[in-house]
Amino acid sequence: MLDSKTKLISLLGHPVEHSIGPAMHNAAFKETGLNFVYLAFDTTHLNTALAAMKGLNFRGFSVTIPHKQKIVELLDRVDPLAAKILAVNTVVNENGVLVGYNTDSDAAINALKGKISLSGKKVALLGAGGASRAIAFGLQQEKALTTIFNRTFEKAKSLAKAVGCEYSQFEKLESFKPEIIINATSVGMSPKSASSPVDKRVLKNKPLVFDVVYTPLETVLLKQAKTAGCETVSGLEMFLEQGAEQFKLWTGQDAPRELMREVVERELAK
Ligand code: ATR
Repeated sequence: MLDSKTKLISLLGHPVEHSIGPAMHNAAFKETGLNFVYLAFDTTHLNTALAAMKGLNFRGFSVTIPHKQKIVELLDRVDPLAAKILAVNTVVNENGVLVGYNTDSDAAINALKGKISLSGKKVALLGAGGASRAIAFGLQQEKALTTIFNRTFEKAKSLAKAVGCEYSQFEKLESFKPEIIINATSVGMSPKSASSPVDKRVLKNKPLVFDVVYTPLETVLLKQAKTAGCETVSGLEMFLEQGAEQFKLWTGQDAPRELMREVVERELAK
């Protein structure tokens, strides 16, 4: 029941109407008996939205497109990893002090570590946008041997320099023989879900394949990988991990992951 003690959590972004965060987090609060509520706010006015979060004593909030980068300079404190990534997707209000985190990075790493150890592994990270940046810093912390491949070569180079890893051209992916391939491009995401970022020849050495894309749940890349006999990790695992970590940051409790998985699968099937 919502009452005068209900703790408020929000999502700030634009657009937000397709977000499954509210369904996932509200179900998790209900399951754990926590008097919290999660509300989505479609806003392009980040400064005033932040003042409102403080003024109305929200416990925390998620941040999504287009605010993840801009918010970094507007917060009171930023966790060191989020500061390196230059993007925040989660904020906790610690008695009027807004503290920013990036749960995407740990989420990707935890999703991978469920299947494989990362230290010393040869990783091909595809893409050089926001998702790739979060994952690249996480991989670096885990001492993986990361090479970034991106359609726009200059962006691969500049991200690799920021992270301190390697970069290369897409055409060299097959001869690179990665042990792990991570797709952090938007290739394969619906509505353009018929494409894959790689040719199936790249999969012949059976690398583990992780696709950050989770709409559709099984991308063409994951289908190719399964056919080639590769181990796979889906974007759903990363989405759930980042949500579970947010839940912990706001409530101090472990998230009910299985319930969250059920809710997310149900929402994605709609
Ligand atoms: P996000 O924040 O989700 O990572 P983004 O910052 O827009 O999104 O980055 C999208 C990534 O997907 C980029 O690496 C982009 O490559 P470019 O830097 O060359 O634009 C990549 N990408 C998008 N469409 C692509 C396509 N059709 N083929 C190859 N790469 C593509």
